[in-house]
Amino acid sequence: MTTLLAIETSCDETAAAVVRDGREVLSSVVASQIDLHTGYGGVVPELAARAHLEVLGTTVDAALCGIDGGWNAIDAIAVTRGPGLAGCLLIGTAYAQAAAAARRLPVVGVSHLAGHVYSAWLADLELEPPFLALLVSGGHTDCVELRDHGTAIRLASTRDDAVGEAFDKAARMLGLAYPGGPVIERVAGAGDAARFPLPVTRLEGAFSFSGLKTAVRYVVRDLGTAELDDAGIPRDPAVIAAIAASFQVAAVEQLAEGLGAAADRTGAEQVVVVGGVAANTALRTAVRQRLSGLRVVVPPLHLCGDNAAMIGAAGWHRLKTHGPDMVSFDADPALALFA
Ligand code: KG4
Ligand code: ZN
Repeated sequence: MTTLLAIETSCDETAAAVVRDGREVLSSVVASQIDLHTGYGGVVPELAARAHLEVLGTTVDAALCGIDGGWNAIDAIAVTRGPGLAGCLLIGTAYAQAAAAARRLPVVGVSHLAGHVYSAWLADLELEPPFLALLVSGGHTDCVELRDHGTAIRLASTRDDAVGEAFDKAARMLGLAYPGGPVIERVAGAGDAARFPLPVTRLEGAFSFSGLKTAVRYVVRDLGTAELDDAGIPRDPAVIAAIAASFQVAAVEQLAEGLGAAADRTGAEQVVVVGGVAANTALRTAVRQRLSGLRVVVPPLHLCGDNAAMIGAAGWHRLKTHGPDMVSFDADPALALFA
């Protein structure tokens, strides 16, 4: 039996979890910084790193406080090594390395992207590779094939913006709060998607969201000054809702179609959708429709956004396949998928 303490600080959530044998989540605590960054319309890296430093200790304490034996129950530490914001990653890796050295525990550096992929493995106890994963977050839009534990290949990636980033930027143009994904989803519910039709990008083996983002900018501009406030935001909530709805339709269709094409090409029988944007109900529905007949796993909301339980799951596999890392390994803001 191996009980891991897992730590995640790659972006704007400070998270710690205790995970037994890869799949049994004994505790999972997420301290969100959203309120800190909302006023800036996006994550401010320096503020994020400082906030991690302030709350990581108490977040780890909170994850350990309900565990019999506390620190003494921990056999190893897993920490997100990258990709992510350099200053933020450094806080987590330095903490994990110091704790591992002090307590003479093995430590393993984990890919944040592998963590997201393994959130589906946590969510469905019968899921085993091979499966295709559509990884959709604020920083990434990838379709990857997990062939076996620890072996993944990338089938398609975005050529420009990540889809979550596109949601956030479109929200900004519509005067909606950060993070934009959940707000666009809520506002789109009342919108007429046919009023301002937006193009659906279709690329072979790739995604792209900058064209869609620009299309939103032009639709807003073409409304004319009478329809816009001083900040260039549409005044009419029905117009905002309609553009949000149209944006969501175009983004979701590109993702579901791209995943569908990858599944057709590879003959996959199982697909998962993971990452913050996997919380989007329209995306969940579209993927289930496009891939009906396949096993489709979309984790519950608490596993879609950044969390440390997924790092514990991926870290447990990495410990098994690669063994522990040197206590002095570096954070790597551009870490590859399963490096
Ligand atoms: O995975 P995540 O929590 O952090 C990163 O690793 O980036 O993803 C955050 C992203 C943000 O861009 C946010 O707007 C988006 O996920 N998001 C959503 C929804 N909830 C969060 N996008 C669309 N619909 C949602 N319901
Ligand atoms: Zn993430």
